[in-house]
Amino acid sequence: MKQKGFIFDLDGVIVDTAKYHYLAWKKLANELGFEFTEEQNELFKGVSRKRCLEILLEIGKVTATQAQFDYWMVEKNEDYLSYIEKMDASEILPDVPRVLKFLKQHRAPIALGSASKNARPILEKVGLLSYFDHIVDGNSVTKAKPDPEVFLIAADLLGVAPKHCVVFEDALAGIEAANRAQMVSVGIGDATVLTGARHCFANFTEMDNAFLQGLLQPATG
Ligand code: BG6
Ligand code: MG
Repeated sequence: MKQKGFIFDLDGVIVDTAKYHYLAWKKLANELGFEFTEEQNELFKGVSRKRCLEILLEIGKVTATQAQFDYWMVEKNEDYLSYIEKMDASEILPDVPRVLKFLKQHRAPIALGSASKNARPILEKVGLLSYFDHIVDGNSVTKAKPDPEVFLIAADLLGVAPKHCVVFEDALAGIEAANRAQMVSVGIGDATVLTGARHCFANFTEMDNAFLQGLLQPATG
């Protein structure tokens, strides 16, 4: 019988930071002379900072030198960091602590699998860092989601076979990454958007302990 492993995305699953990423990208777009809508921001979920800037410049039809590109990457992150500076536990998404506590009570190994290079300080700020046995973030990977690298590293660190891992994700790219890693993908968000997810819930409040108990059942084989 094999123990299950649990991997959580950060932005949009544990904390609602998408709005801060959006504000920082919008500020940069406006400085460069074009608009950036919340709808366009959907394309940025789960996507690395570098790829986000490439998409933003495509949207604004802006060509950049390498030096400008690097400068804007830093500027966006500094703005983002100023927005998240005052984050606290009130910005944890509903029922995330219940789910983490339930899994911990059942001695399940837990990892973070995020594209963000700011993951660790955010978990510290909101007081959830201690729930995680391992942190795999944007500093640990060479290939961005939908590549499964981030989740495969997490499974390896947890010592659990990928097929016995469960991934909680709010982004299409993340669901695809989990599926490509042969993991059980659980979408957190709109089921009409997260179509590839094995299971989908609007938020953790919709996910009861009986469902979690089912995920925890040791696997055979
Ligand atoms: C992901 C977010 O978690 O992290 C993306 O969904 C973001 O929107 C990416 O671009 C990288 O984050 P950071 O904090 O390294 O810029
Ligand atoms: Mg996310």
